[in-house]
Amino acid sequence: MCGIFGYVGSKEAPKILIEGLKALEYRGYDSAGIYVPLNNQQQSTQQQNRCIKAVGQVKNLEAKIPADFKGNIGLAHTRWATHGVPSEVNSHPHSDCSGRVWLAHNGIVENYSELKQELIAKGHTFKSATDTEVVAHLIEENLKTIADFSSALKATLNTITGTYGLVIIDANDPTKLYIARKGSPIVLGIGEGENFVASDPSAIVPHTKKVIYLNDGEWAILQAGSYQLFDLAGGELKREPQIIEWSVEETKKGGFDHFMLKEIMEGGKVIKNTLAGRLDENTLSIKLPELLGVEEKLKNIKRIIITSCGTALYAGWVGEYLLEEYAKIPVECEYASEFRYRSPIVEPGTLVMSITQSGETADTLAALREAKRQGAVIVSIVNTVGSTIARESDAVIYNQIGPEIGVASTKAFMSQVALLTAFTVRLAELRGVTTTEADKKVVQEILDLPAKIESILDSREAIKDVATKYAKYNDFLFMGRKYTFPIAFEGALKLKEISYVHAEGYGAGEMKHGPIAMIDENFPTVALCPADSVYEKMISNVQEIKARSGRVLAIATVGDQTVSKMADETIFVPEVMEMLLPIICVVPLQLFAYYIGTGKGYDVDKPRNLAKSVTVE
Ligand code: G6P
Repeated sequence: MCGIFGYVGSKEAPKILIEGLKALEYRGYDSAGIYVPLNNQQQSTQQQNRCIKAVGQVKNLEAKIPADFKGNIGLAHTRWATHGVPSEVNSHPHSDCSGRVWLAHNGIVENYSELKQELIAKGHTFKSATDTEVVAHLIEENLKTIADFSSALKATLNTITGTYGLVIIDANDPTKLYIARKGSPIVLGIGEGENFVASDPSAIVPHTKKVIYLNDGEWAILQAGSYQLFDLAGGELKREPQIIEWSVEETKKGGFDHFMLKEIMEGGKVIKNTLAGRLDENTLSIKLPELLGVEEKLKNIKRIIITSCGTALYAGWVGEYLLEEYAKIPVECEYASEFRYRSPIVEPGTLVMSITQSGETADTLAALREAKRQGAVIVSIVNTVGSTIARESDAVIYNQIGPEIGVASTKAFMSQVALLTAFTVRLAELRGVTTTEADKKVVQEILDLPAKIESILDSREAIKDVATKYAKYNDFLFMGRKYTFPIAFEGALKLKEISYVHAEGYGAGEMKHGPIAMIDENFPTVALCPADSVYEKMISNVQEIKARSGRVLAIATVGDQTVSKMADETIFVPEVMEMLLPIICVVPLQLFAYYIGTGKGYDVDKPRNLAKSVTVE
C-alpha cells in the first residue's frame, strides 16, 4: 500500500525515480509525487519548486516533469489514500514549514491528530489532511533543540506511533537518504556508487540484486557509496546484503497487454517452477527441505489453522479440504483480519500457516504474531523472499514464481494451491496416514498438470467469446461444492476486482437457503461441475437454476454432454483427480474475469480502489 522509491548516486535521479514508481504503481495509484533537491543547499522557496506532484497515475506525474529538472538524489511516492482525498496537496512527498525536511511515507501515524494539535499550537502550518505531514513538522520541531539531523529523526521515531516506512531528505545536506521502518516494508538496494530504497524489491531488481531488508525498529542512512543501519537506541547494526533471484524480465509485461494476462498465461510454468526441486520425477515423491527444522513438531501437531487474506485465503480454503481429507488432521481456515481480533485460542500442538504473496499483508502478519505469542509453530507459504512474514515464520515454503505484478492475484493462487497440495502429501507421509502408492498417484497427476493448464490457456479465444456474451450482466453467482467451493469464491472475487461487477461465491448446497431467490434471466450463474464425487449434487443444483429461468455458464470436464446440454454455455477443462480440481478450474475463471474487465475498457492491472500489498488494517 503506497509505493516509495528513493535514489542516491551519480545518475539523473528523476528518470530513475519515475521508473521506480512505475514498478511500484500496483501498490497504489491515486496520486504521485517526486522530490529532487539540487546538489547544493537551496533556499526554502527554491525547495518547493523541486517537488512535483500529480493526481492519478505515475504517467501524469511524468508528463509534468520539465527537461531541466535534474539532480542525483531524490525520493518519490505513489499513493493509496488513507487520510485525505487523492489530491496534489495530499500526495507525497510532504515537507515541514521551512522546506528543509522532505519525506515520503507508507503506513499510518496513529497519534498524528494529537501531534498535529501540539505542533499547530507551537506555530506550525499544515498544508495537507494527511497523517504523514506531521512527521516532517515533528522533525523540524526537534531540530530546534537537537542540532544533528539523525538525532532529531531518532527522537521523532520514538514519538510517533503506528506504522511507517519512511524515506527522508534533509535539504541542508542533500547527499543522504534517511530511511526508517516500523510495520511497513522497506528494502535497500545496494549498487556500485549508487544506492536505492523501495517498498518492494521488484522496483530495485532492474538496478541491483543486492538487497537489505530493514526490520521493524531499524533505520538507515544511504549515501552514494555507503549504507549504515541503526536501531532506535542509535546503536549501529552490521548486515550484509542478500542476493535476490528475480530477473528483470519477470518485472516486465513481455509482449502481453497486461501483467494479469501474462501471469495467467504463465500458469503451466508456475506449477513447474513452484515444484522445482520439490518433486522427484523418478521416485514420484515430494521433498520439502525447508520443513526439516520443524519436521519433528509437524509429526505431532494436532490441529492446523490457516490465516490469510483475499485470494490467498481462498487458497487456504482449498488447503483445508486437502489437509483434512488426505493428511487426516483438523484444519480451520479463517480471515486473518478476524482471527486477530476474536480472542483466538491456539492450543499446544497447533500449526499456524500464513499464506501470502507479498509477505507483508498487515492482517496476515498480525494473525501470525498472535499465533506465535500463543506458542504455535508457524509455517508460511510466501512469494517474496525476505519479506516480514517470511522472516517471522519458523519455516517458509517459497513459491519460486518471481514477482506477481497484477493487483488481482492469479499465478500466486495457482502456486499457493500447488504448494498446499505438496505440503499435504508430505504431512500425510510424516503422520503415517498415507501409502506410497497413493502419494505416487498424486505426484504423477501433479506432473501432468502443466500440460493440462496449457490446454485451457490455448482455448482462451473461446473463453473470450463466452465472456463477451456475459459482459452485459451486472450480477453473477458462482457456485461450487467440495474442492470447487473455494474456487466459486475466487472466481467471484476475480470478477469483482477487475470488472466492478457484483459477483457472489456460494456453496451450491446453500443456494436453496437464500441466493436462489435472486435468480432470474438477468442473474447468471457460473456453475463449477467437473467430474468429481459431488457431481450428481451439482447437476441437481444446476437443474434448480434452469427451472427458475437462470442462465448457466458451466465449467465441466471435457466430453461431459450431460452438463453441456443443460447449461447455456460450457467451458471444458481436462480431467484431473479431485484434489487437483481447484488448480484446473480456476484458470477459465481467471480468463473469464480478465476478458470481461478488459472488454469494459478497465485497467485490470490497477483496479480502482485496490492495492496489491495491503499494509494497513
Ligand atoms: C490484496 C490483493 C489481493 C491479495 C490480498 C492478499 O487484496 O489485491 O490480490 O490476494 O491482498 O495479499 P497477500 O500478499 O497477503 O497474498
